[in-house]
Amino acid sequence: MFKTIEWRNGRVFILDQRRLPLEVSYIECTDYGMVAACIRDMNIRGAPAIGIAAAMGIALGAGGIKAGSFDEFMRGLRPVFDALLKTRPTAVNIKWAVERIERFLNERRGEPVDSLPGLLADEAQKILNEDIEVNRAIGKWGARFIKDGMNILTHCNAGALATGGIGTATAPMLAAKEEGKRIHVFSDETRPFLQGARLTSWELMQEGIPVTLITDSSAGALMQRGEIDLVIVGTDRTVRNGDVANKIGTYSVAVLAKENGIPFYVAAPLSSIDFTIPDGGMIPIEERTAEEVTTITGGLSTPGCNDKVWGSICVAPEGVGVRNIAFDVTPAKYVTAIITELGAFRPRDLKRLMDKDVNLDELRL
Ligand code: MRU
Repeated sequence: MFKTIEWRNGRVFILDQRRLPLEVSYIECTDYGMVAACIRDMNIRGAPAIGIAAAMGIALGAGGIKAGSFDEFMRGLRPVFDALLKTRPTAVNIKWAVERIERFLNERRGEPVDSLPGLLADEAQKILNEDIEVNRAIGKWGARFIKDGMNILTHCNAGALATGGIGTATAPMLAAKEEGKRIHVFSDETRPFLQGARLTSWELMQEGIPVTLITDSSAGALMQRGEIDLVIVGTDRTVRNGDVANKIGTYSVAVLAKENGIPFYVAAPLSSIDFTIPDGGMIPIEERTAEEVTTITGGLSTPGCNDKVWGSICVAPEGVGVRNIAFDVTPAKYVTAIITELGAFRPRDLKRLMDKDVNLDELRL
């Protein structure tokens, strides 16, 4: 359909999500600083997608290092890692990608130093290819919870634009459709960056899945009226006890779902699960600019770049104080199941995935 990110001829091509759905255009990144800027400015966003971008950024950065030894090469990569790690704090996938690349390199200490950039480009491509498979597996496990005729609510964008493949939260929807089930999706608009309005509805319409866009505050009323059967969202970081960090507003949706007896599922690839953190209170939460809140689409305009795409309409008095918390944490008790590539599990069983001799058949829902 479209490629969210691609490695081609030693460059990284990023679909510019700030311009969607008005324009489909790509940013061609020739160095790691450009990739880091694209992640920071949310030209690419969504946890798995920014993990893939980080891996490709590292491969670009590696190409610019002049080193005579493995240790010198690793020292040269440190600023690359640091630049990528400091872009966005909440999604664990950037850290996951950096740690995976570090392990990958340490296992190749004996290789000629000048072969390492090429190996890193291959590894970044492998991370993307694996994500495609992971998305499919999440689709397969998640589709079991979707019955013919269901109305599904999703929040933010955990679709193809947020991953290398068919998405995480959207994967069960696409799999259900392939199985011949008729479904309909409500997409929360997701103020202030409007991922639901701009991205999820755009994607689902292209996939031929009936989608209705709603304001974030409509979700409760629709649940109360019996118009929503199921919720599926993605995650930026799910931790050991099953607490889930995702786009701001997810927590409200989860509480409303519980109150209304509606199952609330989280699609979480293992790359978004942080087993090092015991509970959600320790997840770093990103806060963003006031401009995203005081204007409609103003946060999408980059001076000199995107202004011709989005205007900036001010909707608040000048000088008003603003909090723009980009993510929230949904406690595990509101989560019906976490759908990973290994199967769907109760949040409290997530930590058992770390056991070497775990019997997945016993744990799966
Ligand atoms: O700020 P964003 O757009 O990067 O936030 C994205 C989300 O909250 C997604 O739900 C999450 O990253 C999962 S993407 C498969």
